[in-house]
This record gives sequence, C-alpha cells and structure tokens, in this order.
Amino acid sequence: INHAKYAKDKDATDYRNGVKTGKTYNLDFSKLKYKTKTLTINNKKVKVREYTNVVYTAKPVDTKYESMNIYIPEAYFQNKKINGYTKDTAPIFMPNTVGGYMSATAATIDHGNTPSPNAGQKKSQAPAGNGANLNQNGGASSGNAMQEALSKGFVVVSAGARGRDSKVNGKYSGAAPATVVDLKAAVRYLKLNDKKMAGDANKIIADGTSAGGAMSALLASTGNNKDYYPYLKAIGAADTSDNIFATYSFAPITNLDNADSAYEWEFNGVNTVTSSGMPGASTSSSTTELTDKQKKMSTQLKSSFVTYINNLGLKDDNGKKLTLKKDGTGSFSDFVKQEVIDSANAAIKSGTSVTTEKYPWLTIKDGKATDVDMTKYFASIGRMKTPTAFDSVDLSAAENQIMGTSTTRAKHFTSFGMKNNTKSGATMADSSIIKMMNPMNYIGKSGTTMAKHYYIRYGGKDANTSVAIPTILAQKLKNAGVDVDYKVKWDTGHSGDYDMDDMFKWAEKITK
Ligand code: DHB
Repeated sequence: INHAKYAKDKDATDYRNGVKTGKTYNLDFSKLKYKTKTLTINNKKVKVREYTNVVYTAKPVDTKYESMNIYIPEAYFQNKKINGYTKDTAPIFMPNTVGGYMSATAATIDHGNTPSPNAGQKKSQAPAGNGANLNQNGGASSGNAMQEALSKGFVVVSAGARGRDSKVNGKYSGAAPATVVDLKAAVRYLKLNDKKMAGDANKIIADGTSAGGAMSALLASTGNNKDYYPYLKAIGAADTSDNIFATYSFAPITNLDNADSAYEWEFNGVNTVTSSGMPGASTSSSTTELTDKQKKMSTQLKSSFVTYINNLGLKDDNGKKLTLKKDGTGSFSDFVKQEVIDSANAAIKSGTSVTTEKYPWLTIKDGKATDVDMTKYFASIGRMKTPTAFDSVDLSAAENQIMGTSTTRAKHFTSFGMKNNTKSGATMADSSIIKMMNPMNYIGKSGTTMAKHYYIRYGGKDANTSVAIPTILAQKLKNAGVDVDYKVKWDTGHSGDYDMDDMFKWAEKITK
C-alpha cells in the first residue's frame, strides 16, 4: 500500500478532522504490560491477560477513543487448547460499543463500556426504550458477549472510536468517516501484530448493534478499500490490510441515504409518532401527530423507495427480481413478509406462545404462521420518527451530525432532505463522505476485500429504522455470493447480542 500517494492531494490535517498531529505511539504488542485476572464465566473460572488502553494507531487524534482493551486466555501462553482452538487459530472477537453515532470508549471485560450520555436522536425523538440489552448509547452492552467469547477460547478485543460528539481543540474530531476509520486502524494493529499476539488476525469477527451494527457491517464490507486510505494514513494506522473475516450486525442503522424513504415505505399511513425514552433515561414517552407537511413528505418518500428498490436489481434466493408496485406492495414486500412468517415459526418452534389474539395481524393455521397483514403489522410496531427520519429537515438528527465536518455541526446527506431543509445556512455533505458511510456502495465491487460471513439480525418490533434496511443489506450480500445468516428476531426491540448460544455456534461453525 503506497500511503504517501494517497495523502498528497490534501493536507493530512484535513483527514484528521482539523486536528494537528501530536505524539507518536508505538504499535508493538510485545512491548505491552498486562494484568492477570481470573473471571468466573458460566460458573467456570477463566484466567486471562488483560491489556488496557492500548493506543492502536501511531498518530491518534484522541487517545480516549482511539485505544482498545485486549483479553487473551492465559491457557494460550501455556500452549494449551480451548474449545479446539490454539494460540494460533483462536478467532478474535471484536465488539464495538458504538451507539447513536456517538464516540465510544473500549469496553472492559468486567464492566462493559462507559457509555456517553444523550446518545441517539433528534431532540424530539429519543431512540426507543424497548431494547433489553442496550447501554445508554443505544449500543449493546458488550460485556456479556465478551465474557462468553473468552470462555469459548476467543481472543477478545474491544476498540473505542471517535463519534459525532468527539471534540478536540474546539473542532468536531469524529465526523464521518472517523468512526469506521478508527475501527479499521484497530484491525490493522491486530494484523500488524498477528505473529506477536495470540489469536488469528485473519479470523477477526466484528460485532456491533445499531450505529455499531452499521459500523461492523461497514468494516466487513469495505476491507482494504482505497477510499479510506488518506484518513488511515493521517492517523498513522499500521501500513497493512484492514479486511475482516466475519461480522455480527444487530439492528444496523445503515444505508442512511435510503433510510428515510425505507422508513416511509414501512410507516406511511401511520400518522401517530410514539417516542419513548431510552433505557435508564428520564425522558418520558410521548405521542404526537404528523403535520400535513410531514404526511406529504411521507408519501413522496414512499414513492422514492419504490424507485430505489426497482433500480437496485435485488434478487431472491432463486434469482427472481425483487420489485415494488406504486402502492408499495409487490415481491420485495412479500419477501419481507416471508421473513416475518419465518420469524413467527421459529418462535413457535422454540416454545414461545404465538397467538392471533396477541398478534392479530398474523394468520396461524394448524399451529404454523402462514400469513402477515403487512399494513397492520407495521402499524402495530408503531412509528418512532417523523419524516424525514434520518436526514432531518432541520438538521437535528444524529445522522446529520455524523455527516458534518470538523467545523460544521451537521449536514444534509439526501437531496430530499436538502430540498425540504428548514435550517438556515444548511449544506450537503461531500458525496465522498456519504459514499464511505454506506456499505451498499462497496458490496460486490472490485477494490474491496469483503468479509466472508455475515450474521445480521433485526428485531421484529424495532422502529429505529425500517426492516427493509437490514433485509436489503442481507440480500445484496447474498446476491454477491457472500454467506449470510439473516433473521428477523421475533417480538424483539432495538437490541443486540441476544441468543448468545446461537451467536457463538455460528462463529464456531465458520472458524472450525
Ligand atoms: C441508534 C438509534 C437510532 O434510532 C439512530 O437513528 C441511530 C443510532 C443507536 O441506537 O445506535
């Protein structure tokens, strides 16, 4: 990789979101100090070496975020095996703690991460409080999954990353693409030190929920792509590869430039907005009605989603094109319906009580779910956001801020949002930045080393984005020949790292 070539066109400071280079850090793992800890995981004692606050890039912008915690089972230093893995073959489980497109600090094995407050959404629309396993950022509390992974012989690495709230010297130091660039730099550290460190850096499995799920999907879909090189170079990322092996992506708030229209495909006609406070927050839930202007935008956006789907060229698993009619019904809608039916049947199979009294939009015949009234199903989930849900017309969404720059707090990232803008002085984000934030732009394209395996989940009653978004991501990946395990998780809100047995069985299957 000829980094110099990619850093010539612009001053490196630009690629560091305006922050000048400071102290240079050494990236040699063998120089690190560690602590030995004995954890009790699932009633078993597990001895680990803990390396904390490891700065993973040579010229960091902010070490509070650009550092990671590394956990290695002690057994690997005695050349012992765990769960069939050795120090050379153990996969590296790499959860991020990103939520709400906020900055994230590395999680510790015993306490999870320290979440930043006030994550999430437009001021009027806090992320839904229906998630069972979220930290205050909206990200999954990764502590449990980290422990589970360690007990199964994985090496565990939790890296922090800059986000929309990061500030250094009065500049927004974490605007896009900083978050994914930081996570890539952490991956590069692991690649650079592969021989010196237990764990196989060719078997990195990322994990994230919500904005973090967007980041883990992006990390998996943009490996070694040159678009990110100048940014990586500017923070002194190790000069090596940054592709990963696999990813978990729970409730990914991704494909942001099409998320507004997908949201209205799902919720057009649902004119009441219910926003409930985040878990642990004092925000109380409230309901409001859409204005006439918002209803009109909803109908326009729904119509642009039909155009988007019909131009996307997605196919089902049998090669049949997935399309939509003007009214929003059609084979793509039927495809989503089948996912919901499968979700219900999986729940029934596992012994969950699924009745038509409780779910009046579901048809059950001879103990099996056979049909879903999609309009009623979507209405039952309920609308959480007003149109435009992500590229907010008044620039108040989390997503507007992540699309900002070091000196501009927030920007638009869709022509529709820009056209309907209500905030004076508003501008559009650079098309190159919008591109780098959307994994859809890289899947199946040359110049990218894709992850081989994706595990994608979306909660059946999550209203943070449309179910269409993870569905499109999963299907685009499948169409590109990638191995995808995608399911809509029955009666589940905005959360991640659930079904840990299933999660880690999948990881074992793809790594053994
Ligand atoms: C998250 C939730 C949202 O609704 C959103 O728009 C962005 C991020 C989150 O929980 O990370």
